[in-house]
Amino acid sequence: MLDAAQIAHYRREGYLVLPDFKPAAELAALRARALEIVDAFEPGRRPAVFSTRDQARGTGPEFLASAEGIHCFFEEEAFDEHGALTAPKALAINKIGHAMHDLDPVFDQFSHGPRLAALAHDLGLAQALVWQSMFIFKQPGIGGEVKWHQDASFLDTTPTSVTGFWFALEDARRDNGCLWVQPGGHRTPLRERFVRERVAGEDRVSMVALDRLPWPDLSQALPVEVSAGTLVCFHGLLPHWSASNRSPHSRHAYTLHATDARSRYADTNWLQRSTLPLRGFEG
Ligand code: FE2
Repeated sequence: MLDAAQIAHYRREGYLVLPDFKPAAELAALRARALEIVDAFEPGRRPAVFSTRDQARGTGPEFLASAEGIHCFFEEEAFDEHGALTAPKALAINKIGHAMHDLDPVFDQFSHGPRLAALAHDLGLAQALVWQSMFIFKQPGIGGEVKWHQDASFLDTTPTSVTGFWFALEDARRDNGCLWVQPGGHRTPLRERFVRERVAGEDRVSMVALDRLPWPDLSQALPVEVSAGTLVCFHGLLPHWSASNRSPHSRHAYTLHATDARSRYADTNWLQRSTLPLRGFEG
């Protein structure tokens, strides 16, 4: 799947951009299916909000249950002080997660197949296990910032193996909140871990500091401006960030995260499977 130069780039820089990985028809099918899921979703009285600025707000029962389900999470700014939506539901959703790739036929088809299986193998995942899928809306006007982080904070294995597969479903540019990466930053230590614990019969999650190395500033970062259909792969230790989307254009993206079955998956990771079997990238 990858040539030697691409593999060398990935190892050196910690990420790899693959333009035209997915045809327009597949992008359209995934986006249409995501909108159907949102349309059918009935927000409860206190809908789940996703925010990377306040992790505690985004980690209620719906969040933990979404490890083996399909849940919608709203933008931080989607509600006024009375709890009413400030935008139509389809424009107020932050993301859908986290098991569509195993539970929904359209997402399943997009997320599996021989090309992805070969790619994962070339990136070093000898026995890939796909733990999570996320459909990220990055809505026009209110799409929130995703602060600097390393994905290995959330899907920790020994040794580190988590690898991100980020599909641009629409053009991603600086003005609509494209991904920014720190080239070579995958050689920096894991700064924090998102830990789930059972305390007094309740699941609790918290971010635990591991290393005081500061996050990069924008002078060390590269904007990954890509066209719809591009796949960006990145190493689990690569620091990445995306700005709020204050433009009038959405920036839909879809991500998959996989680890290597040969590594040990931490039992303190928030995402645990109990009933839904884990699969690789094969169809
Ligand atoms: Fe990430």
